[in-house]
Amino acid sequence: MFPKGFLWGASTSAYQVEGAAFEDGKKASQQDIINQDSYRKFGFATAEIASDEYHHYKEDVALMKEMGFSSYRFSIAWSRIFPDGNGEPNPKGVQYYHNLIHALKQAGIEPIVTMYHYDCPWALVEKYGGWLSRQIIDDFTHYAEFIVREYGSEVRIWTTINEQSIIVQYWTQKCYIPEELLDGKHNQLRYQINHYMNICHAIACNLVHKLVPNGIVGSALGYSCIYPLTGKPEDCMAMQNAQALRNDYYTDIYFKGIYNKAAKTYLEQHGLAPVIEDGDMDLIASGKSDFLALNYYASECAKACPDDGKTVIQWSGVNRSGKKGDISGFETHPGFYQMCRNPNLDTTDWDWAIDPIGMEYMLRDLYNRYNKPLMITENGLGAYDTLNDDGRVHDSYRIDYLRSHIAAVGRAIDQGVKVISYNPWSAVDLLSTSNGVKKRYGLIYVDRTDNDPKNCAHIRKDSFYWYKKVIASNGGDLD
Ligand code: BG6
Repeated sequence: MFPKGFLWGASTSAYQVEGAAFEDGKKASQQDIINQDSYRKFGFATAEIASDEYHHYKEDVALMKEMGFSSYRFSIAWSRIFPDGNGEPNPKGVQYYHNLIHALKQAGIEPIVTMYHYDCPWALVEKYGGWLSRQIIDDFTHYAEFIVREYGSEVRIWTTINEQSIIVQYWTQKCYIPEELLDGKHNQLRYQINHYMNICHAIACNLVHKLVPNGIVGSALGYSCIYPLTGKPEDCMAMQNAQALRNDYYTDIYFKGIYNKAAKTYLEQHGLAPVIEDGDMDLIASGKSDFLALNYYASECAKACPDDGKTVIQWSGVNRSGKKGDISGFETHPGFYQMCRNPNLDTTDWDWAIDPIGMEYMLRDLYNRYNKPLMITENGLGAYDTLNDDGRVHDSYRIDYLRSHIAAVGRAIDQGVKVISYNPWSAVDLLSTSNGVKKRYGLIYVDRTDNDPKNCAHIRKDSFYWYKKVIASNGGDLD
């Protein structure tokens, strides 16, 4: 089932685990600012301490070794390396990642490094709006070249920009967007940011190919397979439209170097298409991805949405409360498609549809269409956990989720799909991008709440012991 040498591990991202947000020369990223705001609005923890990984990384690498990890995906915080986004590197920040990579290598764990996970240096936001400006391309190039040169002799596997598709959908959570741009008239900027990211992705691919012997590189994409709500032809057509705009619009860039035609036509007709300068598409086409890394949590469902002249474009809603059903809405593009709840699937408390078959469906579909190796760089269950009096966290629900999804990866492999790694979300509990720290994903529990960082003790959950068995059997023993 799982081939020899398959990479097992888990994932995190810098601002969601590290903390030490203003320590050892690091300056703010846009996530430090965004999360200060969500602390004020919703009471969610800030990124200032997060899981305190900056001070716990040695302990966690030892725990990863104990679980038998052969890989670990993490991201580098741009503003730890370049506190002002550009200029001179911060020696202590540079050293931190050397230490982490060194500890991983010593433990026999292959680092999988993400260059950018939502945390643009705040200095660049103040200077020119961050990703809102084309100027970011030069600063990203400077940063990417520096880290590839600095760590390239020890890091073979690189992912570029985390989840462009999710940044388009949830742009205020993943990017700092000033209030005055939120009046509904500036939505084209979502796709403009994505265009700049496509250019940066291509530049990053070219850098890895030039500077890292045997290096491989690709995007880590937030991806949900999409089903039609019914077998009615108009729902099936809506499903294809949603597939084009939500998924193919990204994957066609990575593997064909073009914008998907159906999605592009829709965006042009609605004033949402990015401005493309001469040479952009050639540059994008030059950046070849070696693989596609997938962050899969849930499938989605689409239905027809006739343009009645009254319905307006709406973007994906979010559930902030953690009470099932509280989702604030579904993405709607009149005349193209509307996303909706799938009545056939149960959801998490935050309304994410639980669908292991969707994992198999996605892997088979993408491999058949692009014939490139696939990695799972995120997959997991956001849930409330309880630290019991016995000092244990009995997260059987998480084990059930992971078990069924790993089995689905195994079935895809049996069908001939080339999957090279499985790194679920997350190695340790962390600061969720939308729901604070009470929504937990980790195999390792972090003893803190949204209000109280306590001592951030790191504690093995039941899923930790279960995953250890899974890895030891190379995916053969999922019981
Ligand atoms: C992915 C992101 O979209 O989903 C992660 O890459 C994120 O950063 C994860 O944490 C789960 O989403 P959330 O909103 O529950 O944290």
